Amino acid sequence: MHKLLRPCWRNLHFHRRNAANLRLAEQQQRWSSTQEMRTLEDVIADRRQQANRSIVVQVNSERSFSELFTYCQQFGEIEGCHHYKLSHDELHYILVEFQTESSAEAAMSSSCFNEDLSGVPIRSPFLWFRAGKKKGSPAKSASPKTSLSSLDGIHTIPNNELDDLLMASQDVEGQMQTLHRSTVLNDLGTRLRFLAARQVESTIAGMFPNANALPFGSSVNGFGRMGCDLDLILRFDKDSHLGCKSIDSRLVFHTKETLSNGRSQMQRQMECIGDLLHLFLPGVYHVRRILQARVPIIKFHHEHLDLEVDLSMSNLTGVYMSELLYMFGQIDDRVRPLTFCLRRWAQTCGLTNPSPGRWITNFSLTCLVIFYLQQLKEPILPPISLFVKSAKSNDLRVTEDGINCSFLRDVRNLPFKTENKSSLTELLLQFFEFYSQFDFNNRAISLNEARNIVKPDHSAMYIINPLEQHLNVSKNISLEECERFRIEVRNAAWILESDMERNTSNESREEPWGLLNLFRTPEKTIIRPNMFFKPRLVEVSELFDDSSADGEHRNLEFKNSTV
Ligand code: GTP
Ligand code: MG
Repeated sequence: MHKLLRPCWRNLHFHRRNAANLRLAEQQQRWSSTQEMRTLEDVIADRRQQANRSIVVQVNSERSFSELFTYCQQFGEIEGCHHYKLSHDELHYILVEFQTESSAEAAMSSSCFNEDLSGVPIRSPFLWFRAGKKKGSPAKSASPKTSLSSLDGIHTIPNNELDDLLMASQDVEGQMQTLHRSTVLNDLGTRLRFLAARQVESTIAGMFPNANALPFGSSVNGFGRMGCDLDLILRFDKDSHLGCKSIDSRLVFHTKETLSNGRSQMQRQMECIGDLLHLFLPGVYHVRRILQARVPIIKFHHEHLDLEVDLSMSNLTGVYMSELLYMFGQIDDRVRPLTFCLRRWAQTCGLTNPSPGRWITNFSLTCLVIFYLQQLKEPILPPISLFVKSAKSNDLRVTEDGINCSFLRDVRNLPFKTENKSSLTELLLQFFEFYSQFDFNNRAISLNEARNIVKPDHSAMYIINPLEQHLNVSKNISLEECERFRIEVRNAAWILESDMERNTSNESREEPWGLLNLFRTPEKTIIRPNMFFKPRLVEVSELFDDSSADGEHRNLEFKNSTV
């Protein structure tokens, strides 16, 4: 089905923009509800196929759309087109989704390299559209402009617009829903993340035909917001995570002996992959290797997507954990809006921080939310042990390191139903109250059992890692940060309670209220221990030396990699 190309957001009047945001949110919600009850594995498989049918083409502006559409039709039927623009630049892109994978392949096979550029000639789904040979005579188009569209963008809603939407909400519950709808990762954001994965995968496909780059974390688990990073795991053997091996064939590949120390081997391979990405991949910049971490990663920035990527090669439990988080979000409608609200609260009061360190991470915070919902008198979420007990034979998963990650994947078969009817507002307030009294000094949190147990060591905060139960998810958190968490939840409970007392009636409000007060805690009411507060570190990316953005666009060309 073809959709309409939407004009650039910035040119629209503010109110129209708000209306557009809401429309987008509704569209997104409709899309997610159709996905609602499928397993994450199925959703990921579909998204991967969608990426295989798609290309991303840099264009002069959205006005190039009809010409590009007409040009691309020669490769096959087009399913849809999505326009986005990078905010810091005037660079425009159109994602073209064909109906079949072979059409996308044909588009790439017909693309050429630009002899004028000194870049490495590498094939990838990132292309640019140059002007037709005869200047001033654009190709005749079958007026697709009226029948095609793009409704999404890739940008986070600006704070002032979000504030206006929150201001206009009915009540705190409405604010929480609005926050969730207007900040959740949209369809285009998801498509582009899968295209980034495909680019990595297809680059090394010659040497590793079974390579599999699999997105996990907030990009797929339902807790991702616009602009969230992409966590990617790169496996050389496509089926290794399913424990399948082809035992029928009598012909066996010779392979290179691996080093005796598996971790050193992994670090060496990652170094090599890091170099490959850095030297050859179009759009990939600012590659950093963090190989001494428990899970070694390569970080990079993708300039065509304005996206931070964390690539690992050895963290399958992270992928399986994403499945658990995804199902927790599926079980009850309140889980995601509540978590989004708490993630934003933690961000605005500086509890979370984009750079790794001694502060609470979004993942630990999400575990705290899940535990809180599990331990209620009338639980909203079940213990993980129930997923394990309910596992069927097709749910069997064991990692290479022997970690058993077998648990039920299809949430429809989970024998659990909640009778809890609490509103989101009540849950939010009770979350703050619960953790302001939680005995972090002596107790550890078990999501597996949905109860707290005696703390096994002296870590400031102890959340038992659900899949590797001898590990602590929040081991990184310092005593000071744990204390700060306690202070902030106490303050938040106080702010929210007093706000609700003030705003009992539905009269028109002129002052910030509800979440706006929670997110903008007045400095005077906060007991902020400044000596513990570390300013956020902003990473400066090496970006945009794109010599192709000179306006001299002609037919489809590969985006070359320049180093
Ligand atoms: P943001 O990136 O902050 O939006 O959230 P995220 O959920 O993607 O968190 P992060 O990038 O830190 O981690 C990615 C995923 O790895 C998480 O969603 C988890 O599925 C998994 N993960 C992270 N830390 C751990 C851990 O300590 N144990 C396990 N089993 N999985 C983890
Ligand atoms: Mg992440």
